[in-house]
Amino acid sequence: MSIEQHQQRAADLLRAAGILPVLTVHTLEQARAVSAALLEGGLPAIELTLRTPVALEALAMLKRELPGVVVGAGTVLSVQQMQQAIDAGADFLVTPGTPAPLADALAEAPLPVVPGAATPTELLSLYARGFRVCKLFPATAVGGLAMIKGLAGPMADLQLCPTGGITEDSAAQYLEQKNVVCIGGSWMVPANWIADGAWDKVRDSAAQAARIVARVRTA
Ligand code: 3PG
Repeated sequence: MSIEQHQQRAADLLRAAGILPVLTVHTLEQARAVSAALLEGGLPAIELTLRTPVALEALAMLKRELPGVVVGAGTVLSVQQMQQAIDAGADFLVTPGTPAPLADALAEAPLPVVPGAATPTELLSLYARGFRVCKLFPATAVGGLAMIKGLAGPMADLQLCPTGGITEDSAAQYLEQKNVVCIGGSWMVPANWIADGAWDKVRDSAAQAARIVARVRTA
């Protein structure tokens, strides 16, 4: 499959997700329970960060045990981690930033990828490699809505997944932007809820997020 086809799949799966929870877990049980709660709330796609020792095992377990969950590997920092995430069965990959060697490898990857960038120059480097769907990270820190509106003119065919600092209160404004295909965030899976096993809160916050997506999309 060509990069164009993989990028189309990335756009499709992010658009279907609308809001992508960025999830960090420390145990397999947390991974299972929080993913089930997100699914129940109406968010079937997740970005599971590779920031903890259990992350790759959790990814493989989710693919086996919760087939309804679309599992992206996040915080992919190197070509080695890219390969490990693919081997673990990731449905897609997300990076927070994309140095050239990683970008080159991602352009050849056999699955949808969403490479991260923080500036117009970084986005154009990705564009030159064929990427049309990119994560803007850390979105609020690098300009937030003003940055996204500014990019829409000169880079009109780039679709963005802003992530970093977005909240339940600001989510709709981001989703309403014509060059935003999806937004990422951890507000529905904060570390303390995961540590406390507050799965009802995760489910309710996911349901609220899913309602925001539905409301924006039907407006
Ligand atoms: C992350 O990598 O932690 C994500 O960008 C989540 O950002 P947030 O916690 O600001 O939503």
